[in-house]
Amino acid sequence: MNMLSKKSIVDAGSLEPEDIELILSNADSFLEISRRDVKKVPTLRGKTVINLFFEPSTRTRTSFEIAAKRLSADIINFSSSSSSLKKGESIIDTLKTILSMNVDLIVIRHSDSGTVKMIDRFVDIPVINAGDGKYQHPTQALLDLYTIQKRFGKFEGLKVAIVGDFLDSRVARSDMDLFEKMGMEVTIVAPTMFLPEDYSEMNVRHNIDEVIKDTDILYILRMQLERQDRKFYPSVMEYNRFLTLDMKRLEEMKPGSVVMHPGPVNRGTEITDEVMDVGGTLGEKIAIEEQVTYGVAIRMAILYLILG
Ligand code: NCD
Repeated sequence: MNMLSKKSIVDAGSLEPEDIELILSNADSFLEISRRDVKKVPTLRGKTVINLFFEPSTRTRTSFEIAAKRLSADIINFSSSSSSLKKGESIIDTLKTILSMNVDLIVIRHSDSGTVKMIDRFVDIPVINAGDGKYQHPTQALLDLYTIQKRFGKFEGLKVAIVGDFLDSRVARSDMDLFEKMGMEVTIVAPTMFLPEDYSEMNVRHNIDEVIKDTDILYILRMQLERQDRKFYPSVMEYNRFLTLDMKRLEEMKPGSVVMHPGPVNRGTEITDEVMDVGGTLGEKIAIEEQVTYGVAIRMAILYLILG
């Protein structure tokens, strides 16, 4: 069947392996469209998508916008800072207004975990979670999978280390769900303060040096400064000592291994400037820009499979 098993994409964990397979296999043709001179197909002509962003975003919002436009859908950007929410309107009333305009699909980002699930229950049209609080960011996890598939041609048995602020990261939660589902071995590298209370079931290390030589994919998380209701990890210097990817560590990584990050990168904290700007063979390890490119193809595939 050429359809997803659910109407909406709210979390990564509930995607069936067939859904994941379908999205990844469709992404290739959309990647090809994005590389053409004329990057547009009429597939979703006449469909209306609304980008509801209640939290700042550059890449995810733009990525959905470009994806919708390349498929000829009309996309409307709604940002909470310039909306009636500022005049005291509730989210549900805002939604009712939007639904009255016969929109076909809603993409939502919100700072509260669970908001997208609530909205999905409330509306009949498909909803795509573009990141909610500390909970989930399923399209990021899908584009991460696609990036890994492109680099390695397989998933089974690959060793992934997810490094940094696991506790506050929706990306980490969604990635973890999909990486394990596809048979990869996931290790979390984080100090205890960045781990959930009960991490006894997880494979945990506290120092990046313990995994650096052996890992296929080093997945570095952004420090979620806006989501930490406590003081920053003792200091940036401490962070640098145990967790930051610097040149020495990059050089220790095995041949063929890759570095990923969902962006935006806090240079000097998660990754040094030197590593961010490195060229040559070492530079080929850094897959951060690929993630962004593949993100558009993955979102085109998702919009197509839901609305096409
Ligand atoms: C992520 C997000 O906003 O959840 N960024 C993104 O969507 N590419 C990651 C982050 O902010 O840490």
